[in-house]
Amino acid sequence: MAKMWAGRFKKEADSKVNDFNSSISFDGRMYRHDILGSIAHATMLADQGIISQEDADAILDGLTEILADLNDGRLLMDPDAEDIHMFIEAELTARIGDAGKRLHTARSRNDQVALDIRLYLRDEIAEIRQLIAALVETLCQMAEEHTDTIMPGYTHLQRAQPITFGHHLMAYASMLLRDLDRLADAARRMNFCPLGSGALAGTTYPIDRNQTASLLEFEGPVMNSLDGVSDRDFCIELCSAISMIMMHLSRFSEEIILWCSWEFKFLELDDAFATGSSIMPQKKNPDVAELVRGKTGRVYGDLMTLLSMMKSLPLAYNKDMQEDKEAIFDAVDTVKICLSTFEPMLRTARVLKENMRAAAAKGFINATDCADYLTKKGVPFRDAYKITGTLVGYCVDHNLTLETLPLSEYQKLSPVFEEDVYQAIDLTTCAMTRKSLGGPAKESVCAQIAAARAQLKALAE
Ligand code: ARG
Repeated sequence: MAKMWAGRFKKEADSKVNDFNSSISFDGRMYRHDILGSIAHATMLADQGIISQEDADAILDGLTEILADLNDGRLLMDPDAEDIHMFIEAELTARIGDAGKRLHTARSRNDQVALDIRLYLRDEIAEIRQLIAALVETLCQMAEEHTDTIMPGYTHLQRAQPITFGHHLMAYASMLLRDLDRLADAARRMNFCPLGSGALAGTTYPIDRNQTASLLEFEGPVMNSLDGVSDRDFCIELCSAISMIMMHLSRFSEEIILWCSWEFKFLELDDAFATGSSIMPQKKNPDVAELVRGKTGRVYGDLMTLLSMMKSLPLAYNKDMQEDKEAIFDAVDTVKICLSTFEPMLRTARVLKENMRAAAAKGFINATDCADYLTKKGVPFRDAYKITGTLVGYCVDHNLTLETLPLSEYQKLSPVFEEDVYQAIDLTTCAMTRKSLGGPAKESVCAQIAAARAQLKALAE
């Protein structure tokens, strides 16, 4: 098919160049947004008297039909088309004749593509936010059930102090709430309309950029036409926010993988969210969590692609920028599939409370509480720390725990120890008396859940 820009050329493009140049295989997914943008543009052109109302009506009807035909598969995209913008314009002209050729008045593909990506990503952000909100709500529900489930808290992956599973889950809820906020922020900054920037220098036609911006529900038009067509910072910002979500999911995934191992056995995944081995009959593998962890690297790659692609590009549009789409689309698709698979995997997992508690009982994670017991009875903290360290050493040598160490042994090191030490180092006491704001005590975790839900509600509005 002859190119729309064939006038200036004496030869057709080499077929390799054709394929190399074409973006329809990946920008075709923006067809709905391209059509919505064109409808707003044609409406404005008619209102401003730039095209006749009759032509505008034909364009609007034609575009609406094309949209319906693409939606239900009656019209297929031509793989040889240069891009989605050219394809829809050619199809429109084939259907309605000369009026179709007037649509591109006072517009360039440069402002058109900058518009389409924004419209497309705006919808995607809304979907990603829904998925995060659903995951945060699941975390709140699970946390509510596990405000009493004692587990070891770790530093350096060494048992450190007792917490609850609910407390641990709410840490992730907090991270995801920030992710939600970051997405809202990216969406807000992105929500300015580049349409009317033209190729780079605006237009001599009396267009109304405020009208198209408001028809398309933007905050307003982008203020500088060169900027309007040539920046992709909004893609980078979104990809960075998505990378952060993936980073959080990868940490959670890593923990789930560890918790599913025989060494931990804190969690058992539902059969529907685990996979077997082709050779080892005993295996039940956490593939979903591993894939989320793995795909995080791929999204970081997308971010690096976008940053590198934009580096040092002179103003305004350069064809390099066509490379933005595969990267940002991949990031968006990846985070969506990860979030929507991760949530039910987590929700359906069986929490092995006894194993969590047994692990908490093993690592002397109440040693700080033992030292605090002495401190509260007047022993300076540093002395209390040393006495407790000596007791732990004795227990290790004699295969005992602080719970099973006889009072007489305690008293050999300090006469301050009394029978009530056992109550003070009880794991439940240790977790439940950490009532400081943000800590693992039941009332503290309940407050965290309530705050998370309030934030969720505010961010959903
Ligand atoms: N397919 C192109 C892209 O995605 C559309 C813009 C083309 N503009 C141009 N001047 N060649 O970037």
